Amino acid sequence: MPDPTLLTTRLLLRAFNHADAPDVQRLAGDRAIADTTLNVPHPYEVGMAEAWIAGHDAALKSGHLQNFAITLREGGTLIGAIGLTIEPRFERAELGYWIGRPYWGRGYCTEAGKAVLRHGFIERGLNRIHASHFVRNPASGRMLDKLGLQPEGMLRQHARRWEDYEDLILYGLLRQDWSAALDTAR
Ligand SMILES: CC(C)(COP(=O)(O)OP(=O)(O)OC[C@H]1O[C@@H](n2cnc3c(N)ncnc32)[C@H](O)[C@@H]1OP(=O)(O)O)[C@@H](O)C(=O)NCCC(=O)NCCS
Repeated sequence: MPDPTLLTTRLLLRAFNHADAPDVQRLAGDRAIADTTLNVPHPYEVGMAEAWIAGHDAALKSGHLQNFAITLREGGTLIGAIGLTIEPRFERAELGYWIGRPYWGRGYCTEAGKAVLRHGFIERGLNRIHASHFVRNPASGRMLDKLGLQPEGMLRQHARRWEDYEDLILYGLLRQDWSAALDTAR
């Protein structure tokens, strides 16, 4: 499958390329990004962004990952990342995302998330998309609420970040519910 490009009112979501590495290192290198994510390293050293981006092609070809660079339509600035980690045999994927701190609170992640849900359910034929966030990260929970994902429970001390065990809230959305909500909104 060729790399898809998704367009929203303000954003263009596209595949990462090698030239994005300095921006990824600068934005994701902010400790505030690592603080509430499971897999963003900190410190974010030279070469890590290149290696991360270089891994996307093979993962895309295997059908297990669809990552998008979130860029502003106007000017093309890279502002974040969003992606689906896909479990093809269950037609299910986990949504993951971060937005660079200078761009928080402007609705960008919600806007990108809506496009990625549509891509997941329609283009990839997924049945379920799930996500989870640290209890101490309510902005992510609010964003998932706005996308229509439902809270499904709490996973107590499910992960460890820095020196602390973290409680996670699990969210999920089924294609049938996503589709019904779209019909209602029409
Ligand atoms: C979580 C994150 C992706 C949100 O990105 P964003 O573009 O700012 O999100 P949006 O603007 O689309 O939506 C955020 C919502 O959370 C709300 N919010 C922000 N801080 C909040 C807080 N402390 N408590 C409750 N809601 C909060 C915002 O007001 C907004 O809701 P609103 O539109 O109803 O006002 C961003 O903060 C981020 O990248 N954080 C670090 C990485 C991370 O945590 N990734 C997610 C891992 S699960």
